[in-house]
Parts: sequence; C-alpha cells; structure tokens
Amino acid sequence: MVAGSSLRSGAWFRTAVFYEIPVRSFYDSNGDGIGDLPGVTEKLGYLSELGVGAVWLLPFYRSAWRDEGYDITDHYAIDPSLGTIDDLDRLVQEAHARGIRVLGDLVTNHISIDHPWFQEARRDRSSPRRSWFLWSDTGKEFSRTRVIFRDVEPTNWTWDDLAGQYYFHRFYATQPDLNYDEPAVRQEMFRVARFWLGHGLDGFRCDAVPYLFKREGTRCQSLPEVHVFFKELRAVLDAEFPGAVLVAEANQSIPETVQYFGDSREFPMVMHFPLMPNLYLALAEEDPRRLRHVLQATLPAPPGCGWAYFLRNHDEVTLEQVSDDEREMFLWVYGKYPRTVLNGGVRRRLAPMLDGDDTTIVLMTALLLSLPGAAFLYYGDEIGMGDRLDLPDRDGVRTPMQWTSAANAGFSTLPPERLIRPPVDDPVYGPAARNVADERGRPDSLLERIRQLIALWSAHVDEFRSEAFLAAEPQVPSVFAFWRDQPATRILCLYNISRASVSGTVRLDPELKSTPTVLAGEATLARSDSQLSFDLAGRRFAWIRFARPFAPSMGLPASSVDRL
Ligand code: NOJ
Ligand code: CA
Repeated sequence: MVAGSSLRSGAWFRTAVFYEIPVRSFYDSNGDGIGDLPGVTEKLGYLSELGVGAVWLLPFYRSAWRDEGYDITDHYAIDPSLGTIDDLDRLVQEAHARGIRVLGDLVTNHISIDHPWFQEARRDRSSPRRSWFLWSDTGKEFSRTRVIFRDVEPTNWTWDDLAGQYYFHRFYATQPDLNYDEPAVRQEMFRVARFWLGHGLDGFRCDAVPYLFKREGTRCQSLPEVHVFFKELRAVLDAEFPGAVLVAEANQSIPETVQYFGDSREFPMVMHFPLMPNLYLALAEEDPRRLRHVLQATLPAPPGCGWAYFLRNHDEVTLEQVSDDEREMFLWVYGKYPRTVLNGGVRRRLAPMLDGDDTTIVLMTALLLSLPGAAFLYYGDEIGMGDRLDLPDRDGVRTPMQWTSAANAGFSTLPPERLIRPPVDDPVYGPAARNVADERGRPDSLLERIRQLIALWSAHVDEFRSEAFLAAEPQVPSVFAFWRDQPATRILCLYNISRASVSGTVRLDPELKSTPTVLAGEATLARSDSQLSFDLAGRRFAWIRFARPFAPSMGLPASSVDRL
C-alpha cells in the first residue's frame, strides 16, 4: 500500500474526476452473471484511459441485496458474490499504482433486517443489542419525519412480532435504523471506517448522513448531533488516515447542505444536491439564472473543502428540494414516459433524459468539470448508455455496463437472460448502438469527446482547482458565463444552454491584454480592448484562457483566493 499512502496528501480530490461504480453492474470476471471486484480491477485500464482519478464503489459488504448493498449483514466482510478481501486489496493496490484512488460507501444510518445485530435485538429485550435500534409500543413517535421511499413504505415504523414492538426505519422496512444515542453504535461505526481505511481505501461516500439522530418534535434530519458525530469521525480519520476523504450524501435545502462542511471540520466534500435538478431545469428553460443563484449561494466552499457535482447517480433524480412548479416542469420535460416517476423523482439515465444528444451531454459534463470542486460521473454515462423502465425500483439505471455490442453487452460470458440484470435492449441506447469497444478511438463518439474533455481539464487542473468563481454577464440570456481566476491566468467559461446559435460579448478588465486561447469547446472569438465578442452554436461551450500580467501584490477579490 506504499503508493496508497503517498496518494493521500492534501486536498487531492480537487484534482480528480470521480467515477461511480455499482460493482455488480460493471464487469463480471468469473462468469457467474454478477459484476465483481476483480471485474473492476480488470477494467482499471479503461478508467485510467478515460482520465478517472478516483472511483466510488457502491457497498461491497456482505448484504441481503434488497437495496443494492445498502442493507448490510456483515460490515467486516466482502459479499462472496463480489469477491474476497484479497480481491479488494488487489483492486486498491492496482488502482493506486495507476494513480486512481478508491472510495467505499459508508452506510451508517441503518443495517439489514437480517444482520445478526438486529436478529439479537428483536429476539430479546434484555439483549445488549436492543438499545442499538429504535423501538416503540405505538409507532407514533417522530411523526414529523418524512418518508423517503414514499411509493413503497407508508410509514417509518414497522411492527415486529418477534420484538413485540415497532422499529424505526428511514428507508425500507428491511433496513432498521441504528440508534446513535447508543455510544456503542457510534464506536462500532468508527471501527468499520478504520477497518476499510486500513485496507487502503482513500475515503468514503457517506450514505444518508442527515438522518442518524432522531428528536421528538423535529423533522429528524440535520440535527446538531449529526454534525457532532461526523466531526468526531473526521477527527479520527485526520489523525489516523490523513488525506482520507469523506463525501456527504445530504439531499437537503441549501442552508442545511452547506452545514455539512462544518467550517472545514466535517466533510471535505459535499454532494451538490441543490444544484443538480437546477442543471436540468436551466437547460429546459434555456435560462441559466437559477444556476447563478444556486452557485452564488453555495460558493465558495470553506478552505480545504469542495463541492461534489453530479448529473446522475444510481438513484432516481430526486426532486425533493424543488418547488411544486419546478417539479411539474421537470416531469413535463424529463418524465414523460410511463413508469418514469419514482418517489416523486425521475428514474432515468443521463442520455435518455437528454434525448440522446451527445453535444448536450458534453456541454453538461464540461460545465461540471469547470466549476470549483470535483465532478462525479456515473458509469456508462460517458458512452451514452440507456436505462430500462421495465425493471423495478432503481434497477433500470443499474443495468450491465455496455462493453461491446454483444447482446450481453460484453459484461459477462453468460447470455443476457442469466445476468444479474438484463442489459438495455433498445436500439438507440442499448449495446448495439452504445458500447465502449465501438466508441473507443472513434473521434466523434461520445466516449472520445468526454475523454478528450477530461484530458483537457486535467492538463489545466491547476487553473481549475481554486474556489475562484465570478459570474460574468455575456449579454445573451441563454449563455451561462463565469470566470475561473488564478494569479497567472483567467479562464472564461461560456455555455450556450439553448438550441439556437447566439452571439454575445463579455466585458474584459483592462488588465487582460493577452490574446485569448480556446482550451476546449468551439467558439468564434473577436476581441477589442474592452470586450470579447463570441459566437456559439446551439448547446456549445468554450473554455477561453487569458494570461494575466503576473503581479502577486495586485490582490484578488476575497472569493478568488486559492486557499488550497
Ligand atoms: C441512499 C442511497 O443512495 C440509496 O441508493 C439507498 O437506497 C438509500 N440511501 C438507503 O441506503
Ligand atoms: Ca462475477
């Protein structure tokens, strides 16, 4: 793990593109129809070619698999269907050798109903495990707590005959919540984190963080106790595994979400849930104003921290934080097909949501990359693969990765009907049309365009890694424009989110005397002393760099200072 430790210095996550992998859906190395850890190891070459700097693996622990591994039955074991602990060690070692970090998923809020901890607790009121869970004789407590899987679960309390009481669950009834007022539970989770970091992981995406503590009369989310717990966990990690990163999954309002940075003492990274639905809404409206508002309300992240941006993940696009009108518009544009809506959100992949338009996918990916923080890509979105609305729950966005044009997508040696999930089978987004083998090396393919984009971003990562973000006024309503500043350069990012070609101008500071260079994208430019004129075709973008006269004493605006 030598390479591992050297990778763990500083805020490395500001210079990495993250790639999310549901292990069971990625690559099946031993022909049993289930993607596995050695399968991920085999595909590291692909990830490294794509320019990925870190992978986030969905839970690989022993599980009852009723919620894609988020229902753990043994926190200290790899699920046998995915491999062994040696397989994980090898994966980490080989990833590190390629400069790729590996994040696990830390599932603290709940466990599987089949976990021995719950089995002991439910059978015996005097068991020391009883206090590890939340019990009730009436099931009426915490009535202000919203139900998250509202299409499936009517309530957060379920009666258990064996226990003779109700138990509390924020998610499925098969996932009893742990009781974080029990000190032994908190200690156990520290042990779990230490155990996997000890196996060389570089950190965790932390599942469902707002919900750990419950207090009567509250909505039981983002309570002060939650922040205390994660600050403690962070302190343990900083002391014992310096550089390990924690990424918060906190799907909350803006003020609640920003609190998870905890003034640089809690999560180094927080998923930008407030921005995500607005990216799609802005595109539908061809108006970027809402993006400017959200970013101005959430930037800069505190020192040493950064936002984690994403377009899609393994869940539905959640619309919990948008207004009723916005939800209606979102579903009108992106949720038109039957069976699209789940728990009020949209269970679709990126490509079908964007009508299979590669240019728009590139535009949105470029936008994520150029914001201060880090971009998280979801496996398969880089090739434009689709989804299956006929599969239950969120399985439709977790279908086998499309490696080749074969009917089984080259995911396994087995025929399609024997795989963990059937591959996408439609002619537009299925393996015949969208797959790694055919897209690799073909200059106009989505994969190649995304790969080049990441390569360009990586080549200029020192210019993109600061928190500096200044909105610009391009005089065209459909163009989202901002500056990313460094002492030696300024990069102007322009995104035409409408389908129409546009022309506009951006005012230039008198200090910018240099000739601009287009780093990525396509724009026609003309500059005068005081302004830059540009033409951008529909859904096109450009990253335009100006050298600035190097004058360290000049002083940048407070929000522009690189504090890493
Ligand atoms: C959030 C995860 O992203 C989701 O997939 C899971 O179902 C819930 N947490 C419960 O663990
Ligand atoms: Ca397998």
